[in-house]
Amino acid sequence: MRLVIHQNHEKASLWAAAHIANKIKTYDQSKPFVLGLPTGSSPLVIYKEFINMVKKGELSFKNVRTFNMDEYIGIPSDHPQSYRTFMMENLFKHVDIDHKHIHLLDGLAKDLQKECENYEKAIVDEGGIELFLGGMGTDGHIAFNEPGSSLTSRTRIKSLTEETKSANSRFFDGDIKKVPGTALTVGVGTVMDAREVVIIVTGRNKARALKACVEDGINHMWTLSCLQMHPKAILVCDDAATEELKVGTVNYFKDIEKDNINN
Ligand code: GLP
Repeated sequence: MRLVIHQNHEKASLWAAAHIANKIKTYDQSKPFVLGLPTGSSPLVIYKEFINMVKKGELSFKNVRTFNMDEYIGIPSDHPQSYRTFMMENLFKHVDIDHKHIHLLDGLAKDLQKECENYEKAIVDEGGIELFLGGMGTDGHIAFNEPGSSLTSRTRIKSLTEETKSANSRFFDGDIKKVPGTALTVGVGTVMDAREVVIIVTGRNKARALKACVEDGINHMWTLSCLQMHPKAILVCDDAATEELKVGTVNYFKDIEKDNINN
């Protein structure tokens, strides 16, 4: 697992955007680039930068297929806080992606179990995910794989913890009662199958979870820690998120990544 530490959220995001754009541009153009994507505040600057790059003609999503990580159950897809709406507003409607290449889970599907099975099959049919971009919850979750999730889990229904509902209530008028209690999410195993995983982790409120995921062992109570087993995982952080790490850990990663960062 690589830890690439930047001064702030903006610099971390621009680095992650450039890294992913470079992967898309240098990919074998005879096959689609399959990109996994998150929602939340963490990827917003990355998405803005993708839009800038597309507008400047430096990046194209014509050869990209996307799979989003998760979606709330029980709210319509055109609800202002659905993850479909989030993705349309913050990325898809501003870039040159063919909308039939966008995959999002349907939280109002009649048969939610079948919806999850079909999603896993669609990923396989597209050749598997080349790069999964993600964020991390304050409790160390990846996608909506809350503490205690199986580290081999696949796409399925999950109940959300009070901590996650409280964190996400800022998007629902600050009212935790308005936050859906369940969601569809890719599993930890689904993320682990991606050929590369890039996670953006910034802010002091992620420091406790980052410490657990980087310095402690693999543990289902901090599901992102499973990335310690991934052959190609990068956590892109800012200084604030590293505040609970040991000085030696921070110095170690800053040293081995010094040629890859222009801070
Ligand atoms: C939600 C999402 C996660 C995301 C997390 C962090 O719980 N399901 O995919 O990583 O929030 O959100 P934020 O980036 O807003 O801190």
